[in-house]
This record gives sequence, structure tokens and C-alpha cells, in this order.
Amino acid sequence: MALRLSKHDQSLLDGQAGPAARIAMSILVRMAEVYGAAELIDITQAHIDSTIYIGEAGLEFAERLAGLGAQVAVPSTLNVSGVDEHGWEAWAVPPEWARKARRQMLAYQRMGCIPTWTCAPYQTQFKPAFGQQIAWGESNAIAFANSVLGARTERYPDLLDICCAITGRAPAVGLHLTGNRAGQVLVRLRDIPRPVQQDDTFYPVLGHWIGKIAPDRVPVVEGLAVPPTEDQLKALGAAAASSGAVALFHIIGVTPEAPTREAAFQGRPPEEIVDVTMSTLRKARRELTCDERGYATDERGYATDERGYATDERGYATDERGLATDERGLATADGQALDMVVLGCPHFSLAEFQQLAPLLEGKHAHPRVKFLVTSSRAMTRLAEQAGALAPLKAFGGQVTVDTCVLASPMLPLEIETLMTNSAKCAYYAPGMLNTRVAFGSLVDCVRSAVAGRVLRETSLWES
Ligand code: F3S
Repeated sequence: MALRLSKHDQSLLDGQAGPAARIAMSILVRMAEVYGAAELIDITQAHIDSTIYIGEAGLEFAERLAGLGAQVAVPSTLNVSGVDEHGWEAWAVPPEWARKARRQMLAYQRMGCIPTWTCAPYQTQFKPAFGQQIAWGESNAIAFANSVLGARTERYPDLLDICCAITGRAPAVGLHLTGNRAGQVLVRLRDIPRPVQQDDTFYPVLGHWIGKIAPDRVPVVEGLAVPPTEDQLKALGAAAASSGAVALFHIIGVTPEAPTREAAFQGRPPEEIVDVTMSTLRKARRELTCDERGYATDERGYATDERGYATDERGYATDERGLATDERGLATADGQALDMVVLGCPHFSLAEFQQLAPLLEGKHAHPRVKFLVTSSRAMTRLAEQAGALAPLKAFGGQVTVDTCVLASPMLPLEIETLMTNSAKCAYYAPGMLNTRVAFGSLVDCVRSAVAGRVLRETSLWES
């Protein structure tokens, strides 16, 4: 399909708005052709994920655009950076890395972006409105904006996001278009006890499972007995966008495009109906905690790889494909020495700080355990004003802003076992940080930090 350009698009492409806008538009046009777009549409906001320093190319790209005078055409918030700009020296970040990551931060600010430095821009004053056409990067933010707010964005990759921001345009494809926002897979909750639905690990576990069964489709969840909070929806979306590439989900009676099942599917029948039972959720929950060798385990106690196939450390398959199996049933991370707790993936909200604070009163973290919350500067300031930071500091906890453990090389090498209440962090940590990971509730994380070993309350899940 040939791409039609407006006069304004053509003028940018011709360089009439300067060399930076010409570069941005030429990249956007090429990508729109790859996507098969017929035209470009106006966007009114962007969220830039190209901010994380991962090497020279991204830095050079940002500095080149900024050096050519690039300016964003729409309000553009910034995702996390590669360092906590003012706090990196407290961690293991190499100074040279920090210097380059900071240069990249400055380049985006020179382009007129808003220095929010957070992966939860939807919990700031820049939250987009229902129906607003936007170009957002960062998978959890994309899922939240589309699903919970009803704004419209495709999954914008790094570098293309800033091109959209500079031109104020985006390819008219995917989730920008009403017809592509219809539900595809009906996910029915079956006999999930109310206490499980109220447990704060329910949403990340459900999201982790949804990402695996509907990796690039639009799931519609039916049967929630308890209305979720904003932070629970945040956790669900982040998990589903990690184990899969879910960019939009609907929850009947909860999310704005799903007042009814009919509306969620836009009057079409589901392509597939999948039931979620306790057995399904148990399996998903187990996958988020590693065994003593660092492998996630399935419900039989076998280690699994990222495809869900059981493997052992020699690479021998142990599944129904008929290859050699291994009866090991090894213990999980439960009970093992704990080195670190990480909370705030996605970045902690004020409500989460306020939920955490009373759990810490009168307690202190084990001397070996680092207890870290990652959040934005703005949310941390609000937490401080609300009196929710003092208990964290008295507990021996720390806050890192601007970045997170997966975006910055901040963790010391001695961190071997990490615990988190985030399915996204649990999913990525073993591969990206080379740590063993345990997934638990907020209460589990605090108890474990005090004890210095992984303690998880499992009666709700395993009974
Ligand atoms: Fe945010 Fe880092 Fe998690 S960017 S979603 S805290 S991996």
C-alpha cells in the first residue's frame, strides 16, 4: 500500500523545518512503509523510551538530533534513564557509563522533552485521556495507556518514538485504529477464590500467564469478583507485556472499552476461549521463582526455559517431546539466603509507598539485605511529603529514582538472590542480572528482608 503524505509531512521530509525534522520524518516514513500504513496521523503526546543508555549508537543518535536543533512537536515525557542522575555513586555504576548515560539524558532534555524519568508516566500529570492518539514507548506504559486509559498507541520501539515526537505524526496502523482494538481471546476466571483475587500477587501472576497464552493478541478478562486498583492493573499490564507482547487488554466491567463482553469484542465472537483455574495460576506463579540453580520451575518441579520447556543445566529436555527426562524435584529459592529486595517495577506510586510504610514500622532489614524501591523523582517527593519515606529509611531501605535495576548496571556482583513483588522484574532478572529470583507479595518481601532469607506465605495459593 502506498503511503500518502500530507503537505506538512512532505515539507518536513523536504527539510523545510530543518535537518533534524527531515531525519525524523525520513525514518518515520520508512517505518510507516514497513508497517503498511496508508497515511500518518497526528499525535498529541509522546513517551520516549530511547532514553536508556545501552551503548554508543543510542547516545550518538540522540546527540546528533539535539545537535541539529531537534525540538519535539508535542508534549513528550521521558522514560527511565541509564542512571539515577544524582544518586548513582551509591551503587556499582561505572563512572564512564554514568557520564555517557547523563549525556544521553541531557540530549533528550535539549530536544524539549519533559524530564519525568519514569516508566509510569500514566501516574503523572501527563496521563493521556480516553481516545487520545499518542506515540508511547516502554511496554508497560503502552499496555496501561491503551487498556486502562483508553488512549491509543502502537508499540513504539526506541528511536522511532522520538521521531514521532519531533514530527508530531505516527503511522495510522495497529492500535491507533478502532477495529484493531477489539478483543480476540476471552479469558474466563473459573472458581478463583475471592481471597486469591484480593492477594496482591494475583494480578502479576494473572498477567504473566496472559502474556504467555495471548502474546500478541488482545485478551479480554471476564469474571473478576473484586474491582482492581490502578496499581494492580499496572502490575497486570507490565507482566503481560513481559512474558508476552500484550499492548492492550480489556477487563469486562473495569476498563473503558469493555463495559460489556459485546463491546470488548466489538460484536465479534472470540477467536479463542481460555479458562483460568487455580491450577493455571499456581503454575504461572511457580514460573516466577527460580530453583536453587537459577532456573524457573514448572508445576512438576522441573526447571523450564523461556518457551516453557523443561530443561536441566546440561540442556537435556525433560518434557512431553519424548526426550530424556530428569526426576529432580529440586527445592525452589524458598528458605535460601536473600541478598536484595527490589520493589517498584514499574516505578512505585504514592499509593504503593503508603501501602509499604506501615509494614516497615518498628522493623529493620537484615544487615546483608539491600532493600530498594525504584520510583520517579516526583512520586518520591510526594511520598516524602506524605511521611511515607521516613519509615523506609528507618528500615534501612533505599530509593533510586530516574532508573531501575534492569536499566542501570547498578547492582553489586555479590547479589545472588533477589526478591520482588513484580512479575516483570522476576521474569527478566535471571537473564539480565544473572541472579536467582523469588517472587512474592509485598508482605513476603518485607518479612524476607527482615529474616535475611526467602519466606513466602503459600497457603492461599497451594491449599
Ligand atoms: Fe520500569 Fe525498569 Fe520495571 S523501566 S517497568 S522499573 S524494568
